[in-house]
Amino acid sequence: MQKYINLLGIFGYPVSHSLSPYMHNKICKELNLPYFYVPFEILPENLGFAVKSIRILGIKGINITIPYKEKVMQYLDKISKEAKLIGAVNTIINDSGKLIGYNTDGKGFIKAFEKNFKTTPSCKTFLILGAGGAAKAIITQLCLEGAKKIFIANRTLSNAKNIVLNIKKNIPYSEIYALDLNSNEINNIISEIDVLVNTTSIGMKKTDALLINNELLSNKTIVIDIIYNPRETLLLKEAKKKGAKTLNGIDMLVFQGALAFEIWTGVKPPIEVMRKTLIEHMFNTIEKR
Ligand code: ATR
Repeated sequence: MQKYINLLGIFGYPVSHSLSPYMHNKICKELNLPYFYVPFEILPENLGFAVKSIRILGIKGINITIPYKEKVMQYLDKISKEAKLIGAVNTIINDSGKLIGYNTDGKGFIKAFEKNFKTTPSCKTFLILGAGGAAKAIITQLCLEGAKKIFIANRTLSNAKNIVLNIKKNIPYSEIYALDLNSNEINNIISEIDVLVNTTSIGMKKTDALLINNELLSNKTIVIDIIYNPRETLLLKEAKKKGAKTLNGIDMLVFQGALAFEIWTGVKPPIEVMRKTLIEHMFNTIEKR
């Protein structure tokens, strides 16, 4: 019979930037749960050993961050449907010695979307900028939730096309298309778009220019940037100027964490406490750097 220690944590390399320890430790305290959440910096050659140690030590749950979300899958006993489709795991639960992998990134996005805009992705057309790991998680979940139509615009068209192929193979009812971000293709479809989502890292730096022409933004489009630092990227600023409803990446980060916490403990954590902790921490440390 597996014995657990009351330990949660995150594996990454590097991992010191992670805000998850603040969020999770705060809610454990708030809910009077005896867990402690620790950041573990794992060298690439040690990932397999580190995952084994979850089982051996009886650690209850682990988050996975860069650069291991894909690589970690080979070491797990079971992988959820969503994580398999996305091809990445961000949450592991130790279930009596069996390690089960989940991906809460996509679902975290959906929860943030639904909470902020009081609507669901079904009957909405999305334009996703970027075709990396975050895009894959969001797009897969949008397809599972029955989004009406999805366009993926990416600098490297083949990366967008690969996501389209994977989705078509596994969720065949999805209507999904790849676009070249460097061409004018976006101009032809922009009038159909209900929700624009930036999943690239462009916007993190003050010097970053917009990825799309700001004339394409309007008050008819919801604009989401999954970047949370800065809290308002140039894209969100410009979208606001045009009267669009906007959302940054803080709530997605909160909800992916909340879903992981629920997987580990069976307890729905207080979202507002997580959100406040995250913002306080960002304001006190990161934004002052
Ligand atoms: P993550 O896992 O966080 O999503 P990633 O996998 O590195 O990060 O993906 C980054 C995304 O940002 C990709 O879609 C990338 O485009 P490419 O597929 O062409 O590499 C996009 N991206 C990064 N820098 C960019 C830039 N300067 N202009 C446009 N897109 C960029």
